[in-house]
Amino acid sequence: MIITTRICRTAEETFRAGRDLAQEVREGDVVLMVGDLGSGKTTFVQGLVYGYGLFDPVTSPTFNIVHVYGPPDRRVIHADLYRLSGMHELETVGLLDDVDDRAVMVIEWPERLGGATPRDHYRVLLQVLDCDERYLTIERHGGRPRT
Ligand SMILES: Nc1ncnc2c1ncn2[C@@H]1O[C@H](COP(=O)(O)OP(=O)(O)OP(=O)(O)O)[C@@H](O)[C@H]1O
Ligand SMILES: [Mg+2]
Repeated sequence: MIITTRICRTAEETFRAGRDLAQEVREGDVVLMVGDLGSGKTTFVQGLVYGYGLFDPVTSPTFNIVHVYGPPDRRVIHADLYRLSGMHELETVGLLDDVDDRAVMVIEWPERLGGATPRDHYRVLLQVLDCDERYLTIERHGGRPRT
């Protein structure tokens, strides 16, 4: 189900879109960030983490694969799987063991997950239209019990 489409004309607008999604996500949610290199995935995640009430600096986790922000009861786990070479390495990183009810999991380059993609997730797609323009689509896949 598509929940948002919009054009983000600046990095600031993409940040704000991430901040807006933070109002909806909660612990246990998974957010998959899809888009080409430099399309603005990390920029969106910066807004998401900020909107979630965490003021930790959000940097691209390309070299560490996983960054964790926030206190234990309000975590955002931010992964960038670009450099992952295969499922074997994914298991080594232990990312999927981290899926827990108390963290929001945000994953750049989720294509690397293959069949291990969590069934219920938000899918955020950033398409580059122009040097600064991005077409943003946010979809919700699967469901989760709402209380
Ligand atoms: N509308 C926009 N939205 C997001 N970023 C933009 C936009 N316009 C320009 N930019 C710039 O594009 C770059 C996006 O970088 P960012 O690290 O967020 O992308 P990424 O998709 O995470 O890349 P990677 O695949 O390397 O992880 C930044 O330098 C940002 O300032
Ligand atoms: Mg990135």
